[in-house]
This record gives sequence, structure tokens and C-alpha cells, in this order.
Amino acid sequence: MKEKVENLILEVENRLNETTNLKEVNDIKVEYLGKKGPVNELTSHMKELSVEEKKEFGKLLNELKNTLTSKIDEKIKYYETEELNKKLASEKIDVTLPATKIPVGAPNILEKIVEEVEEVFMSMGYDVVDGPEVEEDRYNFELLNIPKGHPARDAQDTFYIEDEKILLRSQTSPVQVRTMLATGGKEPVRMICPGKTYRRDADDATHSHQFMQIEGLLVDKDIKLSDLKGTFEIMAKKLFGEDCVARLRPSYYQFTEPSVEMDISCFACHGEGCPLCKNTGWITVSGAGMVHPNVLRNGGYDPEVWSGFAFGFGAERLAMLKYGINDIRTFYQTDLRESTNFDRKEA
Ligand code: DAH
Repeated sequence: MKEKVENLILEVENRLNETTNLKEVNDIKVEYLGKKGPVNELTSHMKELSVEEKKEFGKLLNELKNTLTSKIDEKIKYYETEELNKKLASEKIDVTLPATKIPVGAPNILEKIVEEVEEVFMSMGYDVVDGPEVEEDRYNFELLNIPKGHPARDAQDTFYIEDEKILLRSQTSPVQVRTMLATGGKEPVRMICPGKTYRRDADDATHSHQFMQIEGLLVDKDIKLSDLKGTFEIMAKKLFGEDCVARLRPSYYQFTEPSVEMDISCFACHGEGCPLCKNTGWITVSGAGMVHPNVLRNGGYDPEVWSGFAFGFGAERLAMLKYGINDIRTFYQTDLRESTNFDRKEA
């Protein structure tokens, strides 16, 4: 009997040595330790033995079972480890391989400059308001002191939607009257209005049939031209640096009296003269002035009681100056480099 057991162990050892994978080992386990296997077969002979023999035979059988189980399990472990190692090797990450580049978005620089201007004015208590792009002639021109036939209309020829009454606004200034009328003539007004504007201009490096303006209006009591200059200088310093100063030059607009052009000292040469400022040391940024009494009246404000200033400038021009862009069409060509490159330049 002992010999039989030893042979069985030897046989299993040989079979295990011949295996090449986990499945074969599992098959051997079923074959030898399963219900119909030789171990079970031997166990069934127990009943034919005497008590004394049973004791000895039982011990032997137990040893056999334990030996076979441990040998088979050892082999199972061997194949499992081998499989795991193979998997680990095949899934190894080569950290020297070039990484997949994920393009990162950046804010549109025109939007960015508008946001910067909005932030400056909001910090001074201004509201950011909206107005219609499809506008009535009376808001775009007449209520701004530009009657029909006025030569000032020539410079702002635009696209007409319906007869001569409805048009695409040529400036954001109509929002001045709209805001005053909405406020009701009894309270101060502080607003800026960024928005699209349109003109019948042929597109070139400095003209676009659609562009963006930022309008500003303040109406209150005892407002002076110096308030306009101070306010404008705060914006210039925030956008172009603390050493930026402002100056006003006489100009003419129909809806302001007096009217001015607002210049900032050149941030590239600090006033010494360079190509950017055409050697003048100054860069013109905005038209502005004290709100004309007629316009205050058209907005429902008594010019004997109220006074105010207004300004309006091109957002593209501001962005072009700040980022050194020399063609306005860059903003409308949907070239992603426009956002990412200029964004990095500033960083
Ligand atoms: N609307 C003017 C333009 O498009 C710019 C402007 C000038 C706006 C003077 C103003 C202002 O509010 O006071 O040329």
C-alpha cells in the first residue's frame, strides 16, 4: 500500500513537471483529487479494513492528500506568478515616450480686453449695460444731436435694414440715450456698454465692417471735464501700467460739448517717441466730452441740474495697441494662434 502511495506521488510529480500552463495543472488537480480520482478510489477501500489497519491506512491517505494538494498548489502559484509577471512586463509604461499633447484653450483677447475694461469701471460703481445692434435711426443719430442731412453722418454710413429708419448701429453711443431714458431723469447714471458696431467700410488693416466699441456715460451733479480725465487715467493705468498718464486734446463730436480726444502717454517708449506713437510720445485711445445739453434733454435730464461726461473707443484698437497686433482682421479670422500666442506673450 505504501508503495502504491509513493508511486502515486511520483506520478503526479512527473505529470506536474510536464505541464506548460495553469489549465493543465488544474486538470491534474481534478483528475487526482476529484471524486473519480485515485485518492478517492483508495479511500473507498477503507471499509474493507480492520480497525487497526484503518488507523494506519487513514494516516497514510491523509498524508497523500496533503502532499498532492501542496505540490499541485505550489505549481498553480508558480503559473499564476508567471502570468502576473508577464502582464506587468507587457503593461510597463515607457516614461521616455513623448506624451500626447492636449491643446489648451485660452480666452479670446478681444473678450479679455473688454473684461479688463469692465472690471476697472465696475470697481468704480459703473453698470455694464447692453443695447440693440439693430437700432433705430433716431437713437443712433437724431437723439444724439445728428439730424438728417448732417455731414457727420457721412463718416458713419452703415447698413440699413428698413427704409432709412432701422439700421445696424454705427456706434454704441445710442445706448447713452436709451440708458438715460430708462433711468428716468431723476437719478445719476454710471454705465459702460461694450458691443458690436457696424459701418459700410471696406475691410483693410485698420478698418472692419463690424467692430467693437466700448461706450461710457456718467451723469450726475457738478461733473467736470477733470472728472473725465481722472476716470480715464485710472483705466489707462490699469491697462497699460502705473506710469501711464492721460491728456485731453480739443475735438468735435455732435453729442458732446466741449469734445476731446483722449490720449495716453506711449507705454512702449514712455513718451520719448517710437514707431508705435509715431514719434509723438502719445497714443490716441478715445473720443469723449461733456454730454451736450440737447442729449441730456433727449434722455430726460434737465441740463440746468445735471451734467455728465461720455466717451467711446474701439476695443480692437485697444487690444491691437496692447498686444502689438497690426491688422484688425486678425480678430475675425478664427485662427486659434491668435488667442494662444498673444496670451502667452503677455504671461
Ligand atoms: N461714437 C463716437 C464714434 O464712434 C465715439 C465717441 C466720441 C463716443 C465721443 C462718445 C463721445 O461717447 O463722447 O466715433
